[in-house]
Amino acid sequence: FWLIVGTRRRRPEEPPLENGIIPYLGCIFQFSSNPLEFLRARKKKYGQIVTCKLAGRFIHFLMDPLSYHSMIRQGKYFDWKKFHLSSSAKAFGHDSMDPSDGYTTENVHQTFIKTLQGDSLESLIENMMENLQLVMLQSNALKVASREWQTDGLYAFCYRVMFESGYLTLFGKELSSQGDMNAAKQEAQRALILNTLENFKEFDKIFPALVAGLPIHFFKAAYRAREKLAEGLLHEHLKNRGNMSDLISLRMFLNDTLSTFDDMGKAKTHLSLLWASQANTLPATFWSILYTIRNPDALRAATDEVHRVLEKSGQKVSLDGKHISLKREELEDMSVLDSIIKEALRLSSASMNIRVATEDFTFHLDGKESYNIRKGDFIALYPQMVHLDPEVYEDPLTFKYDRFLDENGREKTTFYYKGRKLKYYYMPFGSGLGQCPGRFFAVNEIKQFLCLLFSYFEMELVDKNVKLPTLDQSRAGLGILQPTHDIEFKYRLKSP
Ligand code: HEM
Repeated sequence: FWLIVGTRRRRPEEPPLENGIIPYLGCIFQFSSNPLEFLRARKKKYGQIVTCKLAGRFIHFLMDPLSYHSMIRQGKYFDWKKFHLSSSAKAFGHDSMDPSDGYTTENVHQTFIKTLQGDSLESLIENMMENLQLVMLQSNALKVASREWQTDGLYAFCYRVMFESGYLTLFGKELSSQGDMNAAKQEAQRALILNTLENFKEFDKIFPALVAGLPIHFFKAAYRAREKLAEGLLHEHLKNRGNMSDLISLRMFLNDTLSTFDDMGKAKTHLSLLWASQANTLPATFWSILYTIRNPDALRAATDEVHRVLEKSGQKVSLDGKHISLKREELEDMSVLDSIIKEALRLSSASMNIRVATEDFTFHLDGKESYNIRKGDFIALYPQMVHLDPEVYEDPLTFKYDRFLDENGREKTTFYYKGRKLKYYYMPFGSGLGQCPGRFFAVNEIKQFLCLLFSYFEMELVDKNVKLPTLDQSRAGLGILQPTHDIEFKYRLKSP
């Protein structure tokens, strides 16, 4: 009986089908132990597309990069929001934000675009620049008072600096600690953020299990951490904070006017944004800086670029309290840092872009092939297949800091597969309409972090020949992978 339940027969004109050998679960174990190898083997066997049963779901994996644009072109058959919205409700524990479920009438994706791009992006960038310098130089987050070398884990360092700065940029600062900040109050605020950081780590550890559908009650510590995080984001607390991002202030207003969410439900929608804004950015920052300091050519090119841009804007690095300010156009003028970040993300990203078929339809792929798809099926892209394909990126496992620079030092956009120019060769932020709305802010904040690090600090790896940590595959499918262990480095303030 179990062997029949949940299996399906391939109908004419449907993609090749693998039901797997385990009832219900299908191919999930083979897939999750190494998604890239699993899909590469299927691509060899079947070509452009295959259907696999994974934990009761039938997922069509589109494996040929030349066909990615077919999915974007036939967008009307694909719903990219359904999967996001249901995963968010499952993981963060708020009511559905899908207007068709009746708890809110907000078009949340529109809100994200409006408040993470355009004019709102300028103020995000400005506040992040201030907050990064506050955390790096003025708070006690780093022990920078003396010019002694400090040893630390590089991931722990990136995590602390980016988490605290990103948190303050999105959620603002307590009103009582603005202006004349007394040192004790400032430290109390920091202690709260550090506590939030610990809860975030605890919750984030089990995130893959939550997305896979396990109930949070299996994980007592993570459940407590999630509730604590949400409590800190209750509207009654957020109302006492100033200089909040447009994103959070608009979401608070829309939660209060367009939704029937209760207080904790509203707070949990903010928690989903805290997670979205940090979970990928933290490891992305780590990989960007680690690859750069291991590679003398990259480090030289990056520091030269930072000096050039600072000089052009007439600014000098000083430790007398005057902060560096770099505007969006100045950050966008940094093509070397852009290429470094792209290359680091290419090597560390393992996201999966999932769409749900809105009706039965015929899916036309590149060339002459077409396949029938059933309503409700999932269609997925696994961009790592392109990111690590030696035909697209020569020597794909090697970090080449200038891989995304053309001969004039500008952004390179020409990458080929089977002799044809690819439209979709770089997708850590997803593709099409469902792309990450925070991607411009994300790249800018990593650039800001690198600029400030190169400007204010000297740094070295403790072991110059240290091996790269491996990628933690337990998060494959969710975005930028974390390192399996940290790397020791030392840093100190540069001489004035
Ligand atoms: C969604 C990647 C940083 C906000 C996504 C998606 C990906 C992604 C892959 C899903 C897209 C899809 O399924 O097609 C990343 C990476 C980041 C990053 C790699 C950093 C390196 C950020 C930041 C913010 C942000 C800094 C906000 C401040 C969001 C939001 C969504 C999202 C709100 C959900 C969009 C929606 O459902 O409408 N991100 N992201 N992300 N990201 Fe990012």
